[in-house]
Amino acid sequence: MFGFLKRKRRTLIGMDIGSHVVKCLRLDLGGDRPEVTHFGMADLPPDAIVDGEIMDRELVIQTIREAAQRADLPNEPVASAVAGRAVIVKKIVMDKMSEADAREAIYWEAEQHVPFDIDDITLDFQILQPDIGAGQMELLLVAAKKDMIQAHAELIRDAGFTPLVIDVASFANQNAWEKLRRAPEAAVAAPKADAVDGLAPFDDDQPEAAPAQAKDAGEFVALLDVGGGVTNVHIVRDGVPYFTRDLPIGTSHFIEEFQKQLGLTYDTAFRVSRGHTEDADAQLVADIVRSVGGEIYQGLEPSLSYLKTAGEADGIDRIVLSGGGAHVPGLKECLAESYGVPAEVADPLGNLDYAADLFGEAEPADLSPLLTVCVGLALREAVEA
Ligand SMILES: Nc1ncnc2c1ncn2[C@@H]1O[C@H](COP(=O)(O)OP(=O)(O)OP(=O)(O)O)[C@@H](O)[C@H]1O
Ligand SMILES: [Mg+2]
Repeated sequence: MFGFLKRKRRTLIGMDIGSHVVKCLRLDLGGDRPEVTHFGMADLPPDAIVDGEIMDRELVIQTIREAAQRADLPNEPVASAVAGRAVIVKKIVMDKMSEADAREAIYWEAEQHVPFDIDDITLDFQILQPDIGAGQMELLLVAAKKDMIQAHAELIRDAGFTPLVIDVASFANQNAWEKLRRAPEAAVAAPKADAVDGLAPFDDDQPEAAPAQAKDAGEFVALLDVGGGVTNVHIVRDGVPYFTRDLPIGTSHFIEEFQKQLGLTYDTAFRVSRGHTEDADAQLVADIVRSVGGEIYQGLEPSLSYLKTAGEADGIDRIVLSGGGAHVPGLKECLAESYGVPAEVADPLGNLDYAADLFGEAEPADLSPLLTVCVGLALREAVEA
């Protein structure tokens, strides 16, 4: 089919299959502001997904169906994501050439940089600097294992949906941050598409330069997605990802420590992790958050050294917390203090419309950071074949 006959979808379902919670929502991008028209989520029992690996496929499929049912999703295409650990992001230097030629040559180049068989991976790249002298250019290479992407697409199919885009969770997080931190009109305007057998981290065109009014223009922003079991660190500047990595610390570690050190039931510890500290000793909670949060701080060190060694930056300029752990009481303040930079909690719902009762009993502000990846996925405006 000819490209110019393709038309953009104005709605897309985002499905974030996290290791602890499956979330899905549908966005309508047809209006002045994107609107969340459907929403549902369901908890995944522990052990269904461990270290990013699916241990109990049937249970995961059943949980996806449950979340989809709660959302009352229509039978429309889905954008979903594999976890950050399925992907390698690396800056490389190669001979200067056109983008089209680079698309051919990249497979040869990648062989030296990626510890997988080249036939087993799918690649994408972005030219960062077209001329760094000596006939060389600098690009950002992104590689993901094909089998993980295919297995993920299969999972969505088996749950009864059609996967249109398989993204990487950290890139979806970045997408939500970039499109929703500024005017919502811009969120609608920025196109994005890719087929299911490819990666979808970059726009087809050169990256959108951060607009002058973006509050973080030129800044190194550390997007920290504090999930159930891991924290994904994704460092970006002006739309370009510089570093992505998972740290083995998530909300469950905070909850465990609250239980152990404060003698709380799981339910109370869970409430504390979401910022409801009435039933706990505030000082002890602060000490625990400082100690577990310190592991995130330490885990970030290698990424900062990387930036420094590469001569890119002295450090990060801003921290944005997302995921279920974003509301852990005092975590934002503790990280801001450790780094001496501003920290904020992602609020993707803040720039979206939705019906007053869409989230039921839950407070949208409470859910908002948890839904960042899911919103970033549904914002991957896709091309219909
Ligand atoms: N409203 C909520 N509903 C369910 N869990 C919540 C909620 N708010 C906070 N949480 C906490 O957040 C955790 C899930 O966070 P999140 O959805 O970001 O993780 P995930 O995406 O499933 O995991 P990962 O990204 O590590 O694979 C839960 O385990 C729970 O402790
Ligand atoms: Mg997650």
